[in-house]
Amino acid sequence: LADIHLKHGGVSFYRDHILPFLIAQAMRDPELVPYRRRTIAKAHGRVLEIGVGSGLNFPHYSSAVESLVALDPSAKLLTYAGREARRTGRAVALIEADVEDIPLAAASLDCVVSTWTLCSVPRLGRALAEIRRVLKPGGDFLFVEHGLSVDAHIQRWQRLLTPVWRRISGGCHLDRAIDRELMASGFSLVDIARGYATGPKVATFFYEGRARPV
Ligand SMILES: C[S@@+](CC[C@H](N)C(=O)[O-])C[C@H]1O[C@@H](n2cnc3c(N)ncnc32)[C@H](O)[C@@H]1O
Repeated sequence: LADIHLKHGGVSFYRDHILPFLIAQAMRDPELVPYRRRTIAKAHGRVLEIGVGSGLNFPHYSSAVESLVALDPSAKLLTYAGREARRTGRAVALIEADVEDIPLAAASLDCVVSTWTLCSVPRLGRALAEIRRVLKPGGDFLFVEHGLSVDAHIQRWQRLLTPVWRRISGGCHLDRAIDRELMASGFSLVDIARGYATGPKVATFFYEGRARPV
């Protein structure tokens, strides 16, 4: 029994403390900053950021943003995000919540923002339906994500590695075709850029753009 308890305790300690620390460190990569800057610069009006992590996008929001709500299921990452909000002077309402069940009213937001979050959401279709629900008609979903490469040999590695990788990385899938998933969930792609960033090709095929509910 003690062994079982220790094993389970170890898993939740990893998930609740070690993993958030590793995510916060990894996401500080300076290579990601231009992607953050371009994506966040487009946000305006009433904005929701999903999977806010440690709040690394806060410095990039412009004065076109009237209000910012940011959610994440990780209490630890929200603590880091709170610190970042105070450091940058960004007014933001932080909520511990899941994008699959957004605690906000339908058609209440001008923009939803996601930077490298859709890879980790367990039920992507449900998350995208929720994003559609909270966006006003004509609202923008602004995103930069990593996902399925266009190269067959990289795709093979992405599909092979995902079952193992997701177990140690907080549920991250390497093999999601973000553009196809958006269209299948009733979004039209207003603009989209796809290509490799620097780093291992299995994790750096990026999708960057803007989508709108059809
Ligand atoms: C790779 S990190 C990216 C963090 C942040 N967006 C950034 O750009 O630094 C993935 C984030 O997605 C969050 N996440 C995972 N599952 C989620 C879910 N179901 N709903 C909302 N956020 C989720 C994680 O807690 C984590 O903060």
